[in-house]
Amino acid sequence: MQPAIINIFEKAAKKAGKFLIRDFGEIENLQIQSKSIGDFVTNADIKVEKSLLDTLRYYYPNYSFITEESGQIEGDENTIIIDPIDGTSNFIHGIPHVSIIIARMYNNEITDGIIYNPILNEFFWSSKGKGAWCNDRRLRVSNRYNLTDSLIGTGLPFGNRIYNNYLKEIDEILKTSAGIRRLGAAALDLAYVAAGKLDGFWEKDLNLWDISTGVLLIKEAGGRVSKINGEEWTVNSREILVSNTKIHDDLCKKLTLL
Ligand code: IPD
Ligand code: CA
Ligand code: CA
Repeated sequence: MQPAIINIFEKAAKKAGKFLIRDFGEIENLQIQSKSIGDFVTNADIKVEKSLLDTLRYYYPNYSFITEESGQIEGDENTIIIDPIDGTSNFIHGIPHVSIIIARMYNNEITDGIIYNPILNEFFWSSKGKGAWCNDRRLRVSNRYNLTDSLIGTGLPFGNRIYNNYLKEIDEILKTSAGIRRLGAAALDLAYVAAGKLDGFWEKDLNLWDISTGVLLIKEAGGRVSKINGEEWTVNSREILVSNTKIHDDLCKKLTLL
Protein backbone atom coordinates (compact mmCIF):
# COMPACT_ATOMS: atom_id res chain seq x y z
CA MET A 1 0.00 0.00 0.00
CA GLN A 2 1.23 3.49 -0.86
CA PRO A 3 2.29 5.55 2.19
CA ALA A 4 0.33 8.77 2.81
CA ILE A 5 3.15 10.99 1.51
CA ILE A 6 3.17 9.12 -1.81
CA ASN A 7 -0.60 9.60 -2.11
CA ILE A 8 -0.06 13.33 -1.73
CA PHE A 9 2.85 13.36 -4.20
CA GLU A 10 0.62 11.43 -6.63
CA LYS A 11 -2.21 13.91 -6.21
CA ALA A 12 0.17 16.85 -6.82
CA ALA A 13 1.88 15.20 -9.82
CA LYS A 14 -1.34 14.08 -11.52
CA LYS A 15 -2.90 17.52 -11.15
CA ALA A 16 0.21 19.30 -12.49
CA GLY A 17 0.62 16.60 -15.16
CA LYS A 18 -2.51 17.95 -16.91
CA PHE A 19 -0.57 21.12 -17.78
CA LEU A 20 2.27 19.01 -19.13
CA ILE A 21 -0.10 16.88 -21.27
CA ARG A 22 -1.89 19.96 -22.60
CA ASP A 23 1.30 21.58 -23.88
CA PHE A 24 3.14 18.42 -24.96
CA GLY A 25 4.22 18.69 -28.61
CA GLU A 26 2.28 22.00 -29.00
CA ILE A 27 5.34 23.86 -30.13
CA GLU A 28 3.38 26.92 -31.33
CA ASN A 29 1.90 27.41 -27.82
CA LEU A 30 5.22 27.10 -26.02
CA GLN A 31 7.27 30.05 -24.92
CA ILE A 32 10.82 28.76 -24.81
CA GLN A 33 13.73 30.47 -23.11
CA SER A 34 17.31 29.33 -23.13
CA LYS A 35 19.13 29.33 -19.76
CA SER A 36 22.35 28.39 -21.58
CA ILE A 37 23.07 26.51 -24.82
CA GLY A 38 20.91 23.35 -24.86
CA ASP A 39 19.31 24.15 -21.46
CA PHE A 40 15.73 25.33 -21.88
CA VAL A 41 12.79 26.41 -19.74
CA THR A 42 9.26 26.71 -21.14
CA ASN A 43 6.06 28.28 -19.82
CA ALA A 44 4.94 24.66 -19.18
CA ASP A 45 7.88 24.09 -16.76
CA ILE A 46 6.78 27.18 -14.84
CA LYS A 47 3.07 26.23 -14.81
CA VAL A 48 3.78 22.65 -13.71
CA GLU A 49 6.11 23.82 -10.93
CA LYS A 50 3.60 26.37 -9.66
CA SER A 51 0.84 23.76 -9.57
CA LEU A 52 3.11 21.30 -7.70
CA LEU A 53 4.10 23.95 -5.16
CA ASP A 54 0.47 25.02 -4.60
CA THR A 55 -0.57 21.45 -3.74
CA LEU A 56 2.52 20.46 -1.77
CA ARG A 57 2.74 23.64 0.30
CA TYR A 58 -0.91 23.21 1.23
CA TYR A 59 -0.19 19.75 2.70
CA TYR A 60 3.32 20.55 3.98
CA PRO A 61 3.31 24.25 4.96
CA ASN A 62 6.37 23.92 7.24
CA TYR A 63 8.66 21.93 4.92
CA SER A 64 11.65 23.37 3.05
CA PHE A 65 11.60 23.20 -0.73
CA ILE A 66 14.33 22.98 -3.39
CA THR A 67 12.94 23.51 -6.89
CA GLU A 68 14.60 23.78 -10.27
CA GLU A 69 12.77 26.84 -11.55
CA SER A 70 11.94 28.95 -8.47
CA GLY A 71 14.86 28.09 -6.17
CA GLN A 72 14.68 27.41 -2.44
CA ILE A 73 12.05 28.00 0.23
CA GLU A 74 13.34 27.84 3.82
CA GLY A 75 11.38 25.68 6.27
CA ASP A 76 11.95 22.82 8.70
CA GLU A 77 14.35 19.83 8.42
CA ASN A 78 12.10 18.05 5.89
CA THR A 79 12.90 19.08 2.32
CA ILE A 80 10.80 18.47 -0.78
CA ILE A 81 12.81 18.51 -4.01
CA ILE A 82 11.06 19.24 -7.32
CA ASP A 83 11.93 19.05 -11.01
CA PRO A 84 8.71 20.08 -12.81
CA ILE A 85 9.74 18.64 -16.19
CA ASP A 86 12.78 16.43 -16.50
CA GLY A 87 13.57 16.11 -20.19
CA THR A 88 12.50 19.60 -21.29
CA SER A 89 14.26 19.19 -24.66
CA ASN A 90 12.29 15.96 -25.27
CA PHE A 91 9.12 17.81 -24.21
CA ILE A 92 9.74 20.63 -26.70
CA HIS A 93 10.34 18.11 -29.48
CA GLY A 94 7.28 15.95 -28.69
CA ILE A 95 9.34 12.95 -27.54
CA PRO A 96 7.39 11.22 -24.73
CA HIS A 97 10.39 10.55 -22.45
CA VAL A 98 9.58 13.25 -19.88
CA SER A 99 8.63 13.24 -16.22
CA ILE A 100 7.67 15.18 -13.12
CA ILE A 101 9.89 14.46 -10.10
CA ILE A 102 9.10 14.97 -6.43
CA ALA A 103 11.26 13.67 -3.57
CA ARG A 104 11.42 14.07 0.19
CA MET A 105 14.81 14.38 1.86
CA TYR A 106 15.36 14.03 5.60
CA ASN A 107 18.76 14.00 7.31
CA ASN A 108 20.53 14.15 3.93
CA GLU A 109 18.76 11.00 2.77
CA ILE A 110 16.04 10.57 0.14
CA THR A 111 13.21 8.79 1.97
CA ASP A 112 10.28 8.98 -0.48
CA GLY A 113 9.84 9.97 -4.09
CA ILE A 114 7.90 9.75 -7.33
CA ILE A 115 8.72 10.01 -11.03
CA TYR A 116 5.60 10.48 -13.16
CA ASN A 117 5.44 10.35 -16.93
CA PRO A 118 1.96 11.72 -17.70
CA ILE A 119 2.24 10.99 -21.44
CA LEU A 120 2.74 7.24 -20.95
CA ASN A 121 0.88 7.15 -17.63
CA GLU A 122 3.84 5.62 -15.79
CA PHE A 123 3.86 6.42 -12.08
CA PHE A 124 7.09 5.29 -10.41
CA TRP A 125 7.27 5.57 -6.63
CA SER A 126 9.31 4.40 -3.70
CA SER A 127 9.55 4.92 0.04
CA LYS A 128 12.45 3.65 2.13
CA GLY A 129 11.80 0.01 3.07
CA LYS A 130 8.66 -0.24 0.90
CA GLY A 131 10.16 -1.35 -2.42
CA ALA A 132 10.13 0.32 -5.82
CA TRP A 133 6.99 0.41 -7.93
CA CYS A 134 5.61 1.45 -11.30
CA ASN A 135 1.83 1.78 -11.08
CA ASP A 136 0.91 -1.50 -9.31
CA ARG A 137 3.99 -3.47 -10.47
CA ARG A 138 6.92 -4.11 -8.13
CA LEU A 139 10.29 -3.34 -9.72
CA ARG A 140 13.50 -5.37 -9.67
CA VAL A 141 16.79 -4.55 -11.34
CA SER A 142 17.92 -6.84 -14.16
CA ASN A 143 19.78 -10.08 -13.68
CA ARG A 144 22.50 -9.70 -16.31
CA TYR A 145 25.93 -10.76 -15.05
CA ASN A 146 28.10 -9.62 -17.92
CA LEU A 147 28.72 -6.13 -19.20
CA THR A 148 28.88 -7.58 -22.71
CA ASP A 149 25.13 -8.44 -22.47
CA SER A 150 24.17 -5.14 -20.82
CA LEU A 151 22.48 -2.02 -22.18
CA ILE A 152 23.89 1.11 -20.52
CA GLY A 153 22.32 4.57 -20.37
CA THR A 154 24.18 7.85 -20.12
CA GLY A 155 23.75 11.60 -20.57
CA LEU A 156 25.83 13.40 -23.17
CA PRO A 157 27.32 16.76 -22.24
CA PHE A 158 25.72 19.68 -24.09
CA GLY A 159 26.34 23.40 -24.51
CA ASN A 160 29.41 24.43 -22.53
CA ARG A 161 29.48 21.28 -20.40
CA ILE A 162 32.76 19.70 -21.39
CA TYR A 163 33.53 16.52 -19.49
CA ASN A 164 37.14 15.40 -19.38
CA ASN A 165 37.54 11.93 -20.83
CA TYR A 166 33.93 11.71 -22.01
CA LEU A 167 34.69 10.40 -25.49
CA LYS A 168 37.06 7.83 -23.99
CA GLU A 169 34.31 6.69 -21.59
CA ILE A 170 31.83 6.29 -24.46
CA ASP A 171 34.43 4.45 -26.53
CA GLU A 172 35.26 2.07 -23.68
CA ILE A 173 31.63 1.25 -22.82
CA LEU A 174 30.61 0.92 -26.49
CA LYS A 175 33.38 -1.64 -27.03
CA THR A 176 32.55 -3.70 -23.96
CA SER A 177 28.73 -3.57 -23.59
CA ALA A 178 25.67 -4.47 -25.68
CA GLY A 179 25.09 -0.78 -26.42
CA ILE A 180 24.56 2.74 -25.09
CA ARG A 181 21.31 4.76 -24.89
CA ARG A 182 21.00 8.54 -24.44
CA LEU A 183 17.28 8.92 -23.77
CA GLY A 184 17.38 12.55 -22.58
CA ALA A 185 15.76 12.49 -19.13
CA ALA A 186 17.98 11.36 -16.26
CA ALA A 187 15.14 10.55 -13.85
CA LEU A 188 13.40 8.13 -16.19
CA ASP A 189 16.77 6.65 -17.15
CA LEU A 190 17.27 5.80 -13.46
CA ALA A 191 13.70 4.47 -13.19
CA TYR A 192 14.48 2.23 -16.19
CA VAL A 193 17.47 0.79 -14.32
CA ALA A 194 15.18 0.09 -11.34
CA ALA A 195 12.72 -1.57 -13.76
CA GLY A 196 15.45 -3.77 -15.29
CA LYS A 197 15.12 -2.19 -18.77
CA LEU A 198 18.57 -0.62 -18.63
CA ASP A 199 21.31 -2.53 -16.78
CA GLY A 200 23.36 0.51 -15.78
CA PHE A 201 23.63 4.28 -16.17
CA TRP A 202 26.21 7.00 -15.58
CA GLU A 203 26.14 10.77 -15.93
CA LYS A 204 28.10 13.79 -14.66
CA ASP A 205 27.07 17.34 -13.85
CA LEU A 206 23.58 16.55 -12.55
CA ASN A 207 21.48 18.34 -9.95
CA LEU A 208 19.84 16.67 -6.97
CA TRP A 209 16.36 17.25 -8.48
CA ASP A 210 17.33 15.13 -11.53
CA ILE A 211 18.35 12.05 -9.54
CA SER A 212 16.74 12.24 -6.08
CA THR A 213 13.87 9.75 -6.55
CA GLY A 214 15.87 7.59 -8.97
CA VAL A 215 18.50 6.82 -6.34
CA LEU A 216 15.85 5.55 -3.93
CA LEU A 217 14.05 3.54 -6.65
CA ILE A 218 17.28 1.75 -7.59
CA LYS A 219 18.25 0.94 -3.99
CA GLU A 220 14.75 -0.36 -3.29
CA ALA A 221 14.77 -2.42 -6.51
CA GLY A 222 17.97 -4.18 -5.40
CA GLY A 223 20.45 -2.13 -7.43
CA ARG A 224 23.62 -0.27 -6.51
CA VAL A 225 24.31 3.48 -6.47
CA SER A 226 27.75 5.11 -6.22
CA LYS A 227 29.90 7.88 -7.59
CA ILE A 228 31.61 7.00 -10.87
CA ASN A 229 34.83 5.99 -9.06
CA GLY A 230 32.84 3.67 -6.79
CA GLU A 231 32.88 5.96 -3.74
CA GLU A 232 29.70 6.41 -1.75
CA TRP A 233 27.05 8.62 -3.42
CA THR A 234 25.69 11.40 -1.21
CA VAL A 235 23.04 14.07 -1.83
CA ASN A 236 25.93 16.48 -2.54
CA SER A 237 27.38 14.34 -5.37
CA ARG A 238 26.96 15.83 -8.86
CA GLU A 239 27.61 12.58 -10.70
CA ILE A 240 26.21 9.10 -10.51
CA LEU A 241 26.87 5.49 -11.46
CA VAL A 242 24.05 2.99 -10.96
CA SER A 243 23.57 -0.62 -11.97
CA ASN A 244 21.94 -3.97 -11.27
CA THR A 245 24.93 -4.56 -8.84
CA LYS A 246 26.37 -7.46 -10.90
CA ILE A 247 28.12 -5.28 -13.49
CA HIS A 248 28.91 -2.41 -11.11
CA ASP A 249 32.59 -3.09 -10.40
CA ASP A 250 33.25 -3.75 -14.07
CA LEU A 251 31.55 -0.50 -15.13
CA CYS A 252 33.36 1.40 -12.42
CA LYS A 253 36.74 0.03 -13.51
CA LYS A 254 36.09 0.79 -17.19
CA LEU A 255 34.99 4.37 -16.43
CA THR A 256 37.77 5.12 -13.96
CA LEU A 257 40.93 3.64 -15.50
CA LEU A 258 41.00 5.87 -18.59
C1 IPD B 1 18.19 17.34 -17.94
C2 IPD B 1 17.88 15.90 -18.33
C3 IPD B 1 18.99 15.36 -19.20
C4 IPD B 1 20.33 15.44 -18.51
C5 IPD B 1 20.61 16.87 -18.09
C6 IPD B 1 19.48 17.39 -17.19
P1 IPD B 1 16.10 19.00 -17.62
O1 IPD B 1 17.17 17.85 -17.10
O2 IPD B 1 17.74 15.08 -17.20
O3 IPD B 1 18.79 13.99 -19.51
O4 IPD B 1 21.34 15.01 -19.40
O5 IPD B 1 21.83 16.88 -17.38
O6 IPD B 1 19.76 18.73 -16.86
O7 IPD B 1 16.91 20.23 -17.89
O8 IPD B 1 15.44 18.48 -18.83
O9 IPD B 1 15.24 19.13 -16.41
CA1 CA C 1 16.16 17.71 -14.85
CA1 CA D 1 13.64 20.38 -15.52
